[in-house]
Amino acid sequence: GSSGKFFVGGNWKANGTKESVSKLVSGLNSAQFPSEVDVIVAPTFIHLPYVVENIDSRYQVSAQNCWVGRAGAYTGEIAPEQLTDMSVPWVILGHSERRSLLEEGNDFVGAKAANALTHGLKVIACIGETLEQRETGHMYDVLEGQLKGVADNVVNWTDVVVAYEPVWAIGTGKVATPDQAQEVHAFIRKWLAEKVSQEVSAATRIIYGGSVNDQNAAELASKGDVDGFLVGGASLKADAFATICNAR
Ligand code: G3P
Repeated sequence: GSSGKFFVGGNWKANGTKESVSKLVSGLNSAQFPSEVDVIVAPTFIHLPYVVENIDSRYQVSAQNCWVGRAGAYTGEIAPEQLTDMSVPWVILGHSERRSLLEEGNDFVGAKAANALTHGLKVIACIGETLEQRETGHMYDVLEGQLKGVADNVVNWTDVVVAYEPVWAIGTGKVATPDQAQEVHAFIRKWLAEKVSQEVSAATRIIYGGSVNDQNAAELASKGDVDGFLVGGASLKADAFATICNAR
């Protein structure tokens, strides 16, 4: 595993109303988890200010995307410096939903990561293969291409977390087995050692996402190269999310 803290992110995706977000924040504020875990929550852009102001300081807040350049004439986009201005320290980039639905490519995701880091954000960079890619033997090529997109653009990896999210496990209830997760995480760590550096490989947290819940988190967390989780559905329930934060 990496030398960094155990890391649990909650990706709320396009979920939430004023009412449900306020309930979730109060639930999270009374949740218990060890101080040696980094816990991140990622609401929609529109709920960010509320969450930043109302969630307690044990949590760090993340956006789910940001623009590839500076603030300016980019209708509908949010630039990294606007996130830091709003006291949002993290951003999720390259989520498979954006890669597939919005056709974000490897180099674009890498350029966004570099731009976000330059403006002082920390980045959760997501990668993952589809079922078809896995079953036709292209899994490692795909993962490598996605990693390369990040590595070709990013110079300093200190503030990067890599999230492995197999597309077939996202929102499907079909979680990767602990061995499947460990196998890919070990591949990613080896790739970082060979293509970036031994130091980056040892220090970078590699987290797993895809149908993680309060029932399966502990077993996944027992695997050596699983340094935490990126949680979708179960992060909308404060109790389940708290259990996941206690998985190690
Ligand atoms: O980013 C987290 C995610 O894609 C996993 O979603 O609902 O399967 O936990 P879910």
